[in-house]
Amino acid sequence: MNKIWFVTGANSGIGAGIVKAALDSGDTVVAAGRNMERLQSAFAGIDSDRLALVQLDVTDKTQAERAIDDAVTRFGRLDVVVNNAGIAILGYFEALSTSDFERQLAPNLYGVINVLHAALPVMRKQRAGHIINISSMAGAAGGKQGSAYSASKFALEGLSMALAAEVEDFGIHVTIVEPGFFRSKLLDTSNAGFIDTDIGDYDTGASARETWAPYDGTQNGDPLKLGKALVKIAAMDEPLKLFLAGSDAVAGLLPVVEERLKAIKDNRELSSSTDGVDQ
Ligand SMILES: NC(=O)c1ccc[n+]([C@@H]2O[C@H](COP(=O)([O-])OP(=O)(O)OC[C@H]3O[C@@H](n4cnc5c(N)ncnc54)[C@H](OP(=O)(O)O)[C@@H]3O)[C@@H](O)[C@H]2O)c1
Repeated sequence: MNKIWFVTGANSGIGAGIVKAALDSGDTVVAAGRNMERLQSAFAGIDSDRLALVQLDVTDKTQAERAIDDAVTRFGRLDVVVNNAGIAILGYFEALSTSDFERQLAPNLYGVINVLHAALPVMRKQRAGHIINISSMAGAAGGKQGSAYSASKFALEGLSMALAAEVEDFGIHVTIVEPGFFRSKLLDTSNAGFIDTDIGDYDTGASARETWAPYDGTQNGDPLKLGKALVKIAAMDEPLKLFLAGSDAVAGLLPVVEERLKAIKDNRELSSSTDGVDQ
């Protein structure tokens, strides 16, 4: 059956790859972007009545409601919602202000909440739907200079797991995607927030810009191939709950999960030692 997709942050990188893959598979896509000019230019070569472009800054709740409304009015239902829009603000924790954290969480967490609040009533009424939340390796592992970005993605994963349990009875599936490094604008110096510190103690390490900017344009992950993998996952009767995209994601996260599992098993006795309240 032809699916109706709604993809946020669709004008570049992974979002654009997902849109193109879904269109290639014969599905219909509502591509949402905060800047209509960028959105139109991303899909300039595509002339299809299976593609609609809508304006959406995900941090604007009213725009999210309007965009979802427009999608349903135009195509009659909503099968797959991909929360993809996001930014990366990178720097040592002590260099990041509270407002840097707020700026990071605005699209990556609150933007997703806005879109889900608008989309879930539609899916619940349909008694069917699939939410795909684009997290990151940083949504399952924390590393230097990633405290704000990881905070946003860990929060997204927690939200996704809890939500999945609440909506499974309504026929709504939730997939968490943890990509490795994909070729996109995320680490473009004009796009990413590289926050430097003047705290001398951190001088021995590379700055956020020195650490992350070299990845820009050299990432091995192909957004279109990720899109094709998501099309396959969306076609499953029981879509995956978790999908690691890229061999680097698998190589990076396996040891993290194994270490966690080992910590749980090795300390079972100490963990149990806190049971029972002595009156
Ligand atoms: N590329 C990677 O290596 C990688 C790895 C793990 C996870 N991810 C995640 O993948 C997702 C897509 O990122 P990408 O790598 O494809 O980077 P990208 O090329 O920079 O795409 C990010 C998209 O999000 C949009 N966006 C940012 N803030 C927004 C807002 N407030 N409202 C609406 N749209 C907004 C951007 O729009 P503008 O063009 O208008 O700025 C852009 O379309 C992000 O959630 C990112 O965290 C990426």
